[in-house]
Amino acid sequence: MSAIATSQHAMAGAAEQSKVAGPERGVEALNIANLHAWYGESHVLHGVDLVVRPGETVCLLGRNGAGRTTTLRAIMGLTSARSGSIRVFGQEVIGLPRHRVASLGVGYCPEERGIFASLSTRENLLLPPELPTGFSGVAIEEIYALFPNLKERENSPGSRLSGGEQQMLAVARILRTGARLLLLDEISEGLAPVIVQALGRAIEELKAKGFSILLVEQNFRFSANLADRFYVMEGGRIVLEIARADLDGHRAELRGLLGI
Ligand SMILES: Nc1ncnc2c1ncn2[C@@H]1O[C@H](COP(=O)(O)OP(=O)(O)OP(=O)(O)O)[C@@H](O)[C@H]1O
Ligand SMILES: [Mg+2]
Repeated sequence: MSAIATSQHAMAGAAEQSKVAGPERGVEALNIANLHAWYGESHVLHGVDLVVRPGETVCLLGRNGAGRTTTLRAIMGLTSARSGSIRVFGQEVIGLPRHRVASLGVGYCPEERGIFASLSTRENLLLPPELPTGFSGVAIEEIYALFPNLKERENSPGSRLSGGEQQMLAVARILRTGARLLLLDEISEGLAPVIVQALGRAIEELKAKGFSILLVEQNFRFSANLADRFYVMEGGRIVLEIARADLDGHRAELRGLLGI
């Protein structure tokens, strides 16, 4: 375990298990520099630079095929090759075996949700192992407070959950591991507005608890209210970075880049 995770643990304290150290710690939750990634011969990322500071919610926007999912997959070691630098809470992960990455405190919620159909909501939540991230995983009761829909569906098998409930469960499950940096791929996609709102409230609460979040989205309206900063990706490169305070001045440019 890194020195950072150990000291974060000491600071977390029993009563504040789900709080993380604030930005004053100075170590970025995620720092990606000059990242290139390939699927076989196909060179998909062309020098990505991106930072998520502790407690920040950052949104990665882009059109279909821009390279957003690939960025998340490259962090987790799921592309066939990658070069450059990816530091998770200060620790370089390029060169690290795939199974070691999650233990640094990063939780990846992929587009395909991977809910176990024959297991109940509660069993799905009990399944993920708590990893040696230096933090306790979020308790089941705290998960239910974040996602009241899941409490109602506690004993329903995964196969009986709606798409929205499955999405909530997929996000909730990674919280069980003790992850403090959340990589969420298009969690609002295809869901009813009322579910999207519930997911938005959960993100706000996670943010208030100090989680660092990288949201990959096409739904600009969803992310506009949540993110502190925005990156726009095109052709495997970051082409624009905007702080939330500067959004208004960039709306036309954003519409052009995102085709919205
Ligand atoms: N497994 C793969 N093998 C080869 N090429 C891939 C693979 N997955 C994605 N690509 C290619 O990499 C590029 C980036 O894809 P990526 O999935 O990262 O896009 P994205 O920004 O997440 O967009 P969307 O989710 O809308 O498809 C695309 O050109 C895509 O065709
Ligand atoms: Mg994608």
